[in-house]
Amino acid sequence: HTYDRINVAIDGPAGAGKSTVARLVARELSYIYVDTGAMYRAITWYMIREGISAEEHELVDQIVQGMNIDLLPEKDVQKVLINGEDMTPHIRSLQVSGQVSQYSKIEGVRSRLSQLQRQMALRKGVVMDGRDIGTTVLPDAEVKIFMTASVEERALRRYKELKDTETVTLQQLEHDIAARDRLDEGREISPLRRAEDAVLLDTTHMDISQAVEAIVSHCRTYVDGE
Ligand code: DC
Repeated sequence: HTYDRINVAIDGPAGAGKSTVARLVARELSYIYVDTGAMYRAITWYMIREGISAEEHELVDQIVQGMNIDLLPEKDVQKVLINGEDMTPHIRSLQVSGQVSQYSKIEGVRSRLSQLQRQMALRKGVVMDGRDIGTTVLPDAEVKIFMTASVEERALRRYKELKDTETVTLQQLEHDIAARDRLDEGREISPLRRAEDAVLLDTTHMDISQAVEAIVSHCRTYVDGE
């Protein structure tokens, strides 16, 4: 077999388990994992901290074009630096989750991040997860997966992650996740949707290793198959 490196795009709604699964797929294939949600979250945290509201499109746009954004892949996490400063410790908070959709719909934010993401995938061998990777960022990705799970199951997974650090109920998380789905699906530029050539993977009744195995086997079939 000629072993070619490919790009793998994994899209889907909040809490479907994309990042956990994508990271493990990358490890299995010895590829680089890129968490694009972390990039949107880092910008969101930066703006909140600077007191710049998502309503101020032009200002956000201008600041984003001028900032340095670096991704540092570390062993189990990927750090996002803005102007050299690590944003990662703050990006998973409820505050950031609650506002990230508002900043993510700003055109300048999307174009800047999409451009960086494309550069990272130029040499192939990348597993990238997000909302618009298969449709917009890497429309030529060799393998595209659209990962979903029911809202109830996604809320339950988030609840287990957050219950020790945040005061939150399962019901509130179900509500928040459904609201974020609507915003991500409804925005004008690159909304969340399944690419026509993406494989649908419903993980409601799957555990992490089953989802990883399903994706890795698609990749191996692609690489060996033709
Ligand atoms: O995957 P996540 O939950 O960390 O993503 C956080 C938010 O970032 C998500 O609600 C929408 C936005 N996002 C996006 O608009 N495009 C991407 N490719 C990735 C994330």
